Amino acid sequence: MTLSKRHLLSIADLTPGDVALIFQTAKSLKEISRRPVKKVPTLRGKTVINCFFEPSTRTRTSFEIAAKRLSADAVNFGSTGSALAKGESLIDTIRTLNAMQPDALVIRHRGSGVPALCAAQVRDCAVINAGDGQHEHPTQALLDAFTVAQAKGRVRGLTVAFLGDIAHSRVARSGIALFRKLGAKVLVAGPRSLLPVAVEALGAAAMPSIAEAVALADVLVVLRVQLERLQGAGVPTLREYARHFGLNAVTMKQAKPDVVIMHPGPINRGVEIDPELADGRYSLILDQVENGIAVRMACLYLYCHERLLHH
Ligand code: CP
Repeated sequence: MTLSKRHLLSIADLTPGDVALIFQTAKSLKEISRRPVKKVPTLRGKTVINCFFEPSTRTRTSFEIAAKRLSADAVNFGSTGSALAKGESLIDTIRTLNAMQPDALVIRHRGSGVPALCAAQVRDCAVINAGDGQHEHPTQALLDAFTVAQAKGRVRGLTVAFLGDIAHSRVARSGIALFRKLGAKVLVAGPRSLLPVAVEALGAAAMPSIAEAVALADVLVVLRVQLERLQGAGVPTLREYARHFGLNAVTMKQAKPDVVIMHPGPINRGVEIDPELADGRYSLILDQVENGIAVRMACLYLYCHERLLHH
């Protein structure tokens, strides 16, 4: 089996068969990270360039670790210390990196659509979107759905609720699309000013309150309050946000006994989620981090091979 598209720019690029292939590959690669020697020769001779033009801990580190565990040569590239600081354009930068014959470019950028723009410039190289502006974060959605599948044994038929700042969230945009594609029902809840105008068009049902979404959900995905994107968004103080929209012991009162809680990170503890819940028995937050390596190993493995097939 092969993937249907050469680049991973958005969840729309994936068929259900592609997702099944990525999950099956991730499942078989996951145990490598628990071995005493965490390395296999699968991508020996391949080159992955991680182009992170926006801060990241989880995504950048896990793509680098994923590449190295598969024996690819991993190079990290960013705005600081590069010719971008001298005024070189993004397009010239991407063309220059592409001329060095990488097999994959992993791109994070604050501009929505930048990975797609770059994909149109490259030859013989896969582009993987590692988060672009408020648009998409497809590998985050893949690792989230993979984590649910591992914890619950299925995704189809579950109810997944995204809580918080939906409007600014590329995690929510990709997550809603992927969970819908896999047959889950998706709910959203949060401050009205932070819900997209046409949220139903994304395939999600808007709930009147966090507590009502919690009562129906099998999976809660708590979103980070994006302090850096909130100016003028009509949000109350963070204390008010925590009281009315945060996940805490009160809002969890009606939750199903086997509910699971996820968060893409980084967490604003005590704002969108209480520390006791982030660290408690329902939490899969560190499973998400571990699964991020397996899913990104699977993506690098499959998209680097896809590059050969499309050559
Ligand atoms: N979830 C996520 O994208 O985290 P980072 O910003 O740390 O990569």
